[in-house]
Amino acid sequence: MKKDLLSITDLSKNEIISLINLSISLKEEMIFNGGNTQYLKNKTLTMIFEKPSLRTRVSFETAMTQLGGHAINLSPADIGIGKRESVSDVAKVVSSMTNAIMARVFEHSLVEELAKYSSVPVINGLSDLEHPCQILADLLTIYEIKHTFKGLKIVFFGDSENNVTHSLALASGILGMSFVTASPKEYWMKKNIVQMAQILAKKSGGKIIETNDPKKAVEDADVIYTDTWISMGDEKEKEKRLRVFPQYQVTNKLMSFAKKDAIFMHDMPAYRGNEVSSEVIDGKQSVVFLQAENRLHVQKALLIYLLNNSKLS
Ligand code: NVA
Repeated sequence: MKKDLLSITDLSKNEIISLINLSISLKEEMIFNGGNTQYLKNKTLTMIFEKPSLRTRVSFETAMTQLGGHAINLSPADIGIGKRESVSDVAKVVSSMTNAIMARVFEHSLVEELAKYSSVPVINGLSDLEHPCQILADLLTIYEIKHTFKGLKIVFFGDSENNVTHSLALASGILGMSFVTASPKEYWMKKNIVQMAQILAKKSGGKIIETNDPKKAVEDADVIYTDTWISMGDEKEKEKRLRVFPQYQVTNKLMSFAKKDAIFMHDMPAYRGNEVSSEVIDGKQSVVFLQAENRLHVQKALLIYLLNNSKLS
């Protein structure tokens, strides 16, 4: 049976830990041997984009190349998914010729539909609901720096009703971390995501908390995380968002209330002076470029796992 990655909850705790271990081995192999074993020789990944992309496009394409395979990029103008051709036709055609599909879409239901009609694995490369690949890279980054997940407190500031926040909350639930979001009440996470994250957290010993008080949220934080206030697709609300979010900007002052060894994370693109000040994102506690680089390493592990249908150790 093929396996898709539409939500971070498609992976168990053991699968996430194994993917992180495999990413670390692939990263080391690259550093020490100057290249990777060609695990994906003759394999092709189709990449479908409804929205712009820098990290996702570059990391998936490079991952396929470095593992001996190939990636095809299909921009909105190339195929017109759902308009020029139905989603099911695209899924059937592409999966008859290539070995996996990665799609960045507006509506989450589109990746679900692709997965339904595709005979090969489908990877969510960002939808309005979740961004699981980003969160895998974030987890690798956190693990490399903190060497554990248990007992860590992650605090997210800004727009919590967003793909990155949702996947972070669910991952925290799976791994037993405390996850706190600080945002205006009307931008709290989607109810069904919070409920699912809380059910997962109950089993793993984690905690999921939402507040509108940034100062209270940040106490004892190990990881401070923010994302753009205006996600792709939210542009029509720009004016309102620029009015309600400024008190959630991550500044040096806010960072000073967290643990001394707290790290600052951002999935990027970043807007200095909005969700984060330049001093913080370009400062000593920021790990944003490691986070970005880790997209490459973790997605290599993911592609090997999904395309080779191999068991992770
Ligand atoms: N929340 C952002 C993430 C960008 C990688 C967006 O959806 O635009």
